[in-house]
Amino acid sequence: MRVVSGIQTTGNLHLGNYLGAIKQWVAMQDQGECLFFLADLHALTGNISPQELANSTIEMAATLMASGIDDRAILFNQARVPAHAELCWILNGTARMGWLNRMTQWKDKAGKNREGASVGLFTYPVLQAADVLVYKATHVPVGEDQKQHLELARDIATKFNTDFEVDLFPLPEPFISKAAPRIMSLRDGSAKMSKSDPSDLSRINLSDDDDTIAQKFKKAKTDPEPLPDSFDALAERPEAKNLVTIFAALSDRDPQSVVAEFAGQGFGSFKPALADLAISTLGPVRERLNQLLVDREAVGAQLARGAERASTLAAPTLLAAQKAVGLQV
Ligand code: TYM
Repeated sequence: MRVVSGIQTTGNLHLGNYLGAIKQWVAMQDQGECLFFLADLHALTGNISPQELANSTIEMAATLMASGIDDRAILFNQARVPAHAELCWILNGTARMGWLNRMTQWKDKAGKNREGASVGLFTYPVLQAADVLVYKATHVPVGEDQKQHLELARDIATKFNTDFEVDLFPLPEPFISKAAPRIMSLRDGSAKMSKSDPSDLSRINLSDDDDTIAQKFKKAKTDPEPLPDSFDALAERPEAKNLVTIFAALSDRDPQSVVAEFAGQGFGSFKPALADLAISTLGPVRERLNQLLVDREAVGAQLARGAERASTLAAPTLLAAQKAVGLQV
């Protein structure tokens, strides 16, 4: 089992990333060979200043380390392993415009101004395919929003293997958290919790202090009804369902046991319990993060070591892909 996944280095790591992806990354370190990376090349497809990119790469790496990613995994930043970009270019010859045009993230992010969108934003999923295929990943732990990109990676791998009559790329399997596939915004139960939401009240950041966490849950949108005794009864109450899902995922409990415990109670008592739980889970992560950020150079050195190990693993696949297409290297 070869596990590979990445996170964009823009903004803060939030509770959606943590529960949807990072918790699984931490757990999978004992189950197989893991490579986790900061997707700094992907971050270039948005509007990010050089200073912001440099800072957020180190801060995001430190947040992953504080969350429990350690030497069992290889942690690095994508830009330091040129094989990602090199394989991406080869796969640009395999991916089809029609496939990329159907990507919902492209449609959402480019909006109506497609002519003005960066070319990188369009080919973003091809780099993502290269990220996993260059390591012959078998398992890719992600939130539900990345499923379509992973399906595209499988299509690209299949077409490449067929076109060049090789058996080079295994098909990567998206591994989506059952507990928290899609954590929603605290302000709108129909929008996912996201780094790009202009309202900071919509998300819990891993860098938020205890008071901020408590305030954000207090202000979270809900409805006036008490909690029912069955989780299924929350199907039409997206904000309430989201808070129960967060409670269950944070405490590794079944959501049904959470509603059973709070059945008949209103959010006046559920929200403070949720805030206490989040504070006791995330507080220690934030403390480790602050300690790690005292020595940013040490975090950079850790990434450099990870990049060396990752480069060694990527090299034979890149070479095989170059040979398959007829490049003389
Ligand atoms: P990114 O940086 O948006 O998110 C990182 C991980 O967090 C998950 N996630 C969520 N899960 C549940 N609820 C949410 N509200 C939520 N928001 C984010 C994402 O699904 C993801 O797993 N394109 C990727 C980064 C990437 C990548 C890769 C991932 C680049 N190359 C190769 C896997 C494999 C992205 O922008 O994720």
